[in-house]
Amino acid sequence: MAEPILEVCGLVKHYPLTRGVLFKKQVGSVKAVDGVDFTLAAGETLGIVGESGCGKSTVARLLCNLERPTAGEIRYRGEDITKLSGRALKAVRRNIQMVFQDPYTSLNPRMTVGDIIGEPYEIHPEAAPKGDRRRRVQELLDVVGLNPEYVNRYPHQFSGGQRQRIGIARGLALRPEIIVADEPVSALDVSVQAQVINLMERLQREFELSYVFIAHDLSIVRHISDRVGVMYLGRIVETGTDEQIYEYATHPYTQALLSAVPVPDPEAREHRRRIILTGDVPSPTNIPSGCRFRTRCFKARERCALEVPALEVPPVFRCTPGPAAHDSACLFASTEPV
Ligand SMILES: Nc1ncnc2c1ncn2[C@@H]1O[C@H](COP(=O)(O)OP(=O)(O)OP(=O)(O)O)[C@@H](O)[C@H]1O
Ligand code: SF4
Ligand SMILES: [Mg+2]
Repeated sequence: MAEPILEVCGLVKHYPLTRGVLFKKQVGSVKAVDGVDFTLAAGETLGIVGESGCGKSTVARLLCNLERPTAGEIRYRGEDITKLSGRALKAVRRNIQMVFQDPYTSLNPRMTVGDIIGEPYEIHPEAAPKGDRRRRVQELLDVVGLNPEYVNRYPHQFSGGQRQRIGIARGLALRPEIIVADEPVSALDVSVQAQVINLMERLQREFELSYVFIAHDLSIVRHISDRVGVMYLGRIVETGTDEQIYEYATHPYTQALLSAVPVPDPEAREHRRRIILTGDVPSPTNIPSGCRFRTRCFKARERCALEVPALEVPPVFRCTPGPAAHDSACLFASTEPV
């Protein structure tokens, strides 16, 4: 594998939970991100998948340095960026850009498309000389498949898919190395999702980008990801290549998510087992002891309440190299779900 461009170690973000108006008292904390580890190789796409509220957007904001973590490191090309400030931080920020989920609310309705895409140049004027910016913005519109003459139009004059193209053009303006895309197609029609994903794949090759691609559904990240990390309640519980996750999942949570993915072939659909997860996701203020998935796990046993499973290759697969031998935080990991 290529050398990692990004290494995330023990990343934690806890938000204080306070009570009282005048005399604020901390009564707990929201453990939005609670010990996340992963690496991203240059030119690679890492998909991060998990249900609503599991901490995906918080991870995205931490990676782009929009927030400081409570603990842990984010190493970009070997340097921990969580401790940087001033000019050094600004330089790193240029290289890690974000594309947001909702193209309807993430674009300022009062700004023209040209101003939106060119906005990063106001913050990083060294990236493009003033006289050259309009030409660059038009070039970016062309790159994302929009007419360069639309530069003076406003966001409401575009469809959802076109707006997300504008969001992507803005993300590309500073020629970053990494793009963190937080559910970039979730708000779009299914027919438009594929177009935007194809565009992102083309741009990745053209601009040698590395992607962290966040989604709540395993089927969306399947085609674009080289590797996938499955997140549950602030942690990654299973990670592996496409094949390892989609064909040889060993964590019960991943298996449950996969069983919910729509299958187009009617015969295959008839023969597969659906795993229905019972109960709600526990609150991130009160994470279960031992394995955090145990309150909803169909395989949970007594040991699961006492031991925290580490994200590593489970002992049963260590001596038998093959696709099942990948990191999975389960004490009873098995490719057989039930
Ligand atoms: N600024 C904040 N203050 C307090 N709690 C927060 C804050 N930001 C996020 N949270 C909480 O942290 C948890 C994780 O939120 P996050 O937005 O990262 O989840 P998500 O996986 O992106 O969810 P979704 O799929 O709905 O976008 C949630 O319980 C959320 O309420
Ligand atoms: S450790 Fe136990 S509760 Fe957790 S996923 Fe594995 S079987 Fe389920
Ligand atoms: Mg989110």
